Amino acid sequence: MAHNFQASRQWERINRYWVTEEVAADLTNFKSDRRNHKISLWDPGANGVRYLKTLGYTMAAELGPADWARLRRTENRDVGDPIAVRWNGESICLDYLQAILEVGFIEQAVDLEGARVLEIGAGYGRTCHTLLSNHDVASYCIVDLKTTIQLSQKYLRHVLDEARFAKIDFVTVDEVESVLDSRRFDLCVNIDSFAEMAPDTARGYLSLIDRLCGSFYVKNPVGKYWDRSLDGHLEGDEALEPAMETGLLRQVLDIHDSEAVRAAVPAFLAAYRPGGDWNRVADGWAAPWSFYWQAVYRNAARSERGPAGGVR
Ligand SMILES: C[S@@+](CC[C@H](N)C(=O)[O-])C[C@H]1O[C@@H](n2cnc3c(N)ncnc32)[C@H](O)[C@@H]1O
Repeated sequence: MAHNFQASRQWERINRYWVTEEVAADLTNFKSDRRNHKISLWDPGANGVRYLKTLGYTMAAELGPADWARLRRTENRDVGDPIAVRWNGESICLDYLQAILEVGFIEQAVDLEGARVLEIGAGYGRTCHTLLSNHDVASYCIVDLKTTIQLSQKYLRHVLDEARFAKIDFVTVDEVESVLDSRRFDLCVNIDSFAEMAPDTARGYLSLIDRLCGSFYVKNPVGKYWDRSLDGHLEGDEALEPAMETGLLRQVLDIHDSEAVRAAVPAFLAAYRPGGDWNRVADGWAAPWSFYWQAVYRNAARSERGPAGGVR
């Protein structure tokens, strides 16, 4: 019997609009333009959610048993309707994928049981939620801008049980010195936030950490990028200019060049060391973002809180 080997209706359309008779005329750029978006690549401009889910799915496939245990102990992760994927029956989004990896990194270097934790710039509270769900810390203090605190307070009250929520106190940036100076912390956490503050503000917080804390976990970019192909500069100069002047590391680099990222790491490690008494005890790439690095420092004069012990 005769078979029909002709293009399907779907491919007739693709041949009409994408892979047309002109496609082969010039190969320049063809792999990153619309000709290839019907051959081997979904158009990244139109498929952001698809790529985000693919990233989440691929990362979920790489998690180990300890990561899954941390994730399962963190309940109510779907509050707020995240863009999530399912892996072995568990819903997981990129925020909590990162949170369980962050907590996993911290717990290898710092004893969290009974710890007094300070987080500067907590966003809606994903790291706080994950850390409190996995460790019996003594207290968790969030320092943040007033409006972000309104969000994290509401979110954390929603996702945590009463006893865990009661361990958190919220301090606005106006209250930092008056409220914090008399307190001591075993661990300070800063994720993706010193890089978005005025350099002087970030330096002020590092000096606070130097005075008040026994250890410090930092996860931030190693530098800045200026690459219209990544985001179309859709927010315009109004957003770009302020973003380029924040943080301690303002060097522009190709953030998807592993050698350029690696070359920027020593400056990152030096910039985030809170003071002369501090030693770096761990550091590494903070996947999945190519240009994020993470490190744990310990204050040799104040902290004995490795995997066991307490701040003097
Ligand atoms: C990009 S968000 C990151 C949030 C969270 N760490 C995360 O990774 O999901 C930056 C955070 O820094 C906070 N922030 C910005 N400027 C700040 C300042 N001067 N002092 C304290 N927090 C600040 C923001 O309100 C927000 O919580």
